[in-house]
Amino acid sequence: MNTTTKGPLVLITVGPTREAIDPVRYISNHSSGKMGYAIASAFLEQGCTVVLVSGPVGLALAHPNLSIIHVQSADEMFAASQPYFQSAQIVVFAAAVADYKPAEIFTYKMKKSASEFELKMVKNVDIACEFGQVKRNDQIAVGFALETNNEEQNAVHKLYKKNFDLIVLNSTQDSGATFGFDTNKITIINKDVVFQSFPLQSKQEAGRDITKAALRLATNHTP
Ligand code: CTP
Ligand code: CA
Repeated sequence: MNTTTKGPLVLITVGPTREAIDPVRYISNHSSGKMGYAIASAFLEQGCTVVLVSGPVGLALAHPNLSIIHVQSADEMFAASQPYFQSAQIVVFAAAVADYKPAEIFTYKMKKSASEFELKMVKNVDIACEFGQVKRNDQIAVGFALETNNEEQNAVHKLYKKNFDLIVLNSTQDSGATFGFDTNKITIINKDVVFQSFPLQSKQEAGRDITKAALRLATNHTP
């Protein structure tokens, strides 16, 4: 896809990552990718060009201004995002990246044995942090936080730590607002620690609200 001739470029990471243990096993999480795909749709509705770097999800989306790059692991997600970062005006980190990966990937399928087995895990690349360190002032970064306790405090801490302009706090308090559901209850927090809370709504609607907030900031940053 030629990403230079259309509307502002939006880079979005989405879905879970799969961290291989051996050729047939992996460690992952329950992310459905629905929120990230809804955000992609909302940006496309607004005339943006979207590059979606997607972990394995059971979703499809097609649009002339959309390019989807399918990846498995966090390392692949980071590498696939890199070529688009510089030219992206908005970057949305919607992926549920696995925090750890197995220290080594076994070349052959591991065999069951009589003894217990321990798996050594090492830290994965923090994609949002890496990009946050090189982000320009004219770029808008949007991150996510899914917290179970001290929700608002933890989200604000992540906003600053990762150099986000906005962080979307996903509430785990309400039923119908968790992994795999079609609804979400979000709070958007900006760098001035202003909270904008939304009711339980469809992920499509939440995607539009997130997109609107990001585009408003991007317009303010346009020289
Ligand atoms: N993120 C990322 N790469 C990682 C981990 C997280 O890009 N390796 C991004 C997520 O896409 C999200 C934000 O960072 O936008 C926060 O993710 P989260 O898992 O809530 O934060 P962590 O820093 O991993 O902290 P923890 O899981 O311990 O709460
Ligand atoms: Ca994490």
